Amino acid sequence: MSATPRTVVPQNLSEPLPMTLPRLAEKKRLGEAIVMVTAYDYPSAQVAQEAGADVVLVGDSGAMTVLGYSSTVPVSTDEMLMLTAAVQRGLRTPLLVGDLPFGSYEGSDQQAVATAQRFIKEAGCDAVKLERGGTSVQRARAIVAAGIPVMGHVGLTPQTATALGGYRAQGRTAERALAVARDALALQEAGCFSIVFEAIPAAVSEAIVEHLKVPVIGIGAGPATDGQVLVFHDLLGIYDGRTPRFAKRFADIKDRMVAGVAEYAAEVRARTFPGPEHIYSIDDDELARFRASFTD
Ligand code: KIV
Repeated sequence: MSATPRTVVPQNLSEPLPMTLPRLAEKKRLGEAIVMVTAYDYPSAQVAQEAGADVVLVGDSGAMTVLGYSSTVPVSTDEMLMLTAAVQRGLRTPLLVGDLPFGSYEGSDQQAVATAQRFIKEAGCDAVKLERGGTSVQRARAIVAAGIPVMGHVGLTPQTATALGGYRAQGRTAERALAVARDALALQEAGCFSIVFEAIPAAVSEAIVEHLKVPVIGIGAGPATDGQVLVFHDLLGIYDGRTPRFAKRFADIKDRMVAGVAEYAAEVRARTFPGPEHIYSIDDDELARFRASFTD
C-alpha cells in the first residue's frame, strides 16, 4: 500500500516553504546553515516541524533510542518503515530522509533499489540515506538511477563500527583522512545530493568540504560543514545511553518526564488524582434510576 503524498501547501504564511533538493543546494550556495534533526515517531516529527528543521532524518539510531537495541545493526526494514511512516504523518515542510538499515542494501543493486523504493512508497520519504563509501557508492548510484535521491554518510559509520575499531573518530591520520575524502567524492560523483560527515576532525572536514559541491551535514565534524545534525534524544536529554562527545544536550527532558510520571504516581497513591475537574457527571435522576435498576 502506498503512502498518501504529503501536502505541500504551507499552513500559514509564516511557515517555511517545503524543503526541496534545489532549496537545499541553494542554502549551501548562500552559506545558510542547514538544520537537520532525527525523529522516530509522530510527536518528535511535530516537534521538528514546529522548531523549523530543514531536514528530518529517521535515523537507524532509532534502533537504540526508541527500540532499545544495543546497536543500530539489528533493526529491520519493517521496523524502520513503521517509524518512518509515523514521522511522515507529523511533517509538512522538512525534507524527509529514511535511513536504510544494515543488511537492507549492501547485497546487490537490486536489493538496494527495492529497499529504497519501499521507503518512498510505503513511508512517504523524499530521500534515503546509506552508509560508507566502497560498495555503497555503486548502491547509491543504482538508487539514484532509479529516481530516488540519496544522502551519503562517511567517517564514523555506526552500521560497520566494529570494522572501524569501535565508535571512535575517523580520519585522524593522513591516510585515513584521505580515505574519508575519497569516499565523499565518490558518493558525490555517484549522484548523492548531500553527505553526512560523522566524527571526523574539524580541520579534515573543512578541507574536504572545500572540494564538495553538495551540502555536507556534520555530526561531530566541526563548524565548517554546510549544516549540522543531532540525534533527537541526545539533544533533548531523553535517552540514558552513551552520549558521544559531539552530542550537545540542549534540554533535560528525561528528568522532567520521570518527575511528571512520579508526580502522577504519587497523586494516584494519595487518591488526589483524579480531581473534580477530571470526572464526568450524570444527572441525579438518571443516576437514581440506574441504581434502582442495577441489582445483582
Ligand atoms: O542514524 C542516525 O541518526 C544517523 C545520524 C547520526 C546522521 O545516521
